[in-house]
Amino acid sequence: MSINQLFNLRGKTALITGGSRGIGRAVTLALAENGANVIINYRDRGLDARAEKTAAEAAAFGARATLWPFDLESDGVGHALLGFANANKCPPDILVTNASLQIRKEWDEITSDEFARQINTNLRSTLQLIQAVVPRMRQNRWGRILNIGSVQQMRPHPQMCVYAASKSALVNLVKNLAPRLAASGITINNLAPGTIATDRNEPALADAEYKKTVLARIPLGFVGQPDDCAALALLLCSDAGRYITGADYLVDGGMGLCF
Ligand SMILES: NC(=O)c1ccc[n+]([C@@H]2O[C@H](COP(=O)([O-])OP(=O)(O)OC[C@H]3O[C@@H](n4cnc5c(N)ncnc54)[C@H](OP(=O)(O)O)[C@@H]3O)[C@@H](O)[C@H]2O)c1
Repeated sequence: MSINQLFNLRGKTALITGGSRGIGRAVTLALAENGANVIINYRDRGLDARAEKTAAEAAAFGARATLWPFDLESDGVGHALLGFANANKCPPDILVTNASLQIRKEWDEITSDEFARQINTNLRSTLQLIQAVVPRMRQNRWGRILNIGSVQQMRPHPQMCVYAASKSALVNLVKNLAPRLAASGITINNLAPGTIATDRNEPALADAEYKKTVLARIPLGFVGQPDDCAALALLLCSDAGRYITGADYLVDGGMGLCF
């Protein structure tokens, strides 16, 4: 088989949480361009335009693109996914847990509610989604799970301690599950971005002084683009990545090396 064919995802269905925008959108389109059908998750706030636009872009590659508005802060996301996938005949072979909640605040001002919202969105939903998708992956003896972490796993921002802790916990979860899923042909990995140009950090990076301090900590000297993450995601979600599991990759221009 040619190397290019190893990236071919025809016949596979991928669920990408937070697939409507930013890194999730780029991953969605990379997988769709390489033949996967995609389920695009996002928050249901009556603002479907961005998700619909991403779905149309994926469909232009010939993918079946299905929208799944669901708030990952809610308990029972795994159960909800199974109901949705069953009703829409789109059980996932690939799961990309990308969406997250990040609340910026001093550590001693974080409320119990803010703690729970971040842990539930980032960590609980990831576990519940993995629990939901693994039985079918096991039956098929093929599955790909990719978590999107953060450089903050290792270099926590002083005003994002719960977010950073949730990202560290997710790496731990990936490493814990990898050996147990491996015998069933399921890989699970972590991709940790540094500073990537998305809506999330657009306001902060619009401040020229702040951007200067950020750039000074990136050896490659520029802010990354969502596609910088999507290329590695494609590798880890395809047969090209079949011998990689339990791994944690930084996509950060070297930022993790030098705070
Ligand atoms: N950008 C960076 O520099 C950077 C750096 C390190 C790590 N990361 C990580 O990379 C991932 C993607 O970040 P991003 O910058 O691309 O994010 P983003 O541009 O803020 O987009 C977030 C996406 O997640 C969805 N989402 C947020 N909360 C959700 C919820 N409760 N339920 C369902 N969907 C939800 C959003 O849906 P709506 O469109 O409906 O709001 C949107 O599709 C995150 O895990 C983030 O922690 C990003």
